[in-house]
Amino acid sequence: MKALVLSGGAGTRLRPITHTSAKQLVPVANKPVLFYGLESLAAAGVTEVGMIVGDTAAEIEEAVGDGSKFGLRVTYIPQEHPLGLAHAVLIAHEFLGDDDFVMYLGDNFIVGGISGLVDEFRETRPDAQILLTHVPNPRAFGVAELDADGQVIGLEEKPQEPKSDLALVGVYLFTPAIHDAVRAIKPSWRGELEITHAIQHLIDQRADVRSTVIKGYWKDTGNVVDMLEVNRTVLEGQEPRIDGEVDEASQIVGRVVVEAGARVTNSRIVGPAVIGAGTVVGDSYVGPFTSIAENCRITESELEFSIVLRDSSIDGVGRIESSLIGRHVEVTPATGTPSAHRLVLGDHSKVQIRS
Ligand code: DAU
Repeated sequence: MKALVLSGGAGTRLRPITHTSAKQLVPVANKPVLFYGLESLAAAGVTEVGMIVGDTAAEIEEAVGDGSKFGLRVTYIPQEHPLGLAHAVLIAHEFLGDDDFVMYLGDNFIVGGISGLVDEFRETRPDAQILLTHVPNPRAFGVAELDADGQVIGLEEKPQEPKSDLALVGVYLFTPAIHDAVRAIKPSWRGELEITHAIQHLIDQRADVRSTVIKGYWKDTGNVVDMLEVNRTVLEGQEPRIDGEVDEASQIVGRVVVEAGARVTNSRIVGPAVIGAGTVVGDSYVGPFTSIAENCRITESELEFSIVLRDSSIDGVGRIESSLIGRHVEVTPATGTPSAHRLVLGDHSKVQIRS
């Protein structure tokens, strides 16, 4: 069994955090979302991974390397344009050969991994198996329609009028039957070869397509609350570890990770929380469900239920909660007159001010 991991797509704006960079590298509890996928593939006993890469290939390759740190062998498969998930299968045919494979979308996060599903597929070996989950916003996904017995009878990509709230999760299990299907379909209205259409083609050919409904699913849809929640879930499961420096005047409570090279002085950190390598926390409070990435500086501030990406500083601003702070951001008090907020905000920023 091989894996095809999709980490392509254009290097376009990623709501709500940055305007550059691969969306598969968005950190959850200070680790790129893609890494959780690779770890769960390794845990499921997969070793051979084909990685589809596009505009952000350099960034992905730098982060993943040859895959050995995950116990995987990664072969990069360049995709010139993001022409669709089924197009990715088309160009990976040589790599995949006649093997069964898991297709894993690199920006998807499945709580609890996929080992059980992969084992079930190995045993039962239907032509294809899809994962579904109930979502509040099915229009943003591929949507499945099931009959009374739970059999998949239809799939639609981003429907205006969804027939159910069951979204296709970005993990698919395929036998080589999918190769004929991706060759048989035409591009959709959005100009992409949709994997949803390829699976519908299998259904129309009376192939055995099964589905499993899962809980614990997240993908970046630009929703900050969802991102804070997935961060919370992962932090709740982390083992505490203090590899950095914590001085006598500081207090660490609960599941806290202080990475090597981080320094905590005269501060109180209440877990679950993670303080990234090279980050300095001084005269501050860091509360539960907070991830602070590498090389940040938090001084004379309070931070709770928040994510701070790398190279940012928060100095002397009182309490911040339920916030997502990007890279290289500076948050400082406004001094002098007039007494006013002074903001330099990137496109699509959101600020809530309490004055
Ligand atoms: O995340 C689940 C959803 O993924 C499903 O519900 C939809 O049925 C499925 O079509 C897909 O929808 P999106 O439009 O959200 O997919 P997105 O463009 O975000 O691409 C998913 C991943 O695949 C992402 O990591 C980028 C990568 N990708 C995407 C395309 C279109 C590629 O590597 N190559 C591509 O050509």
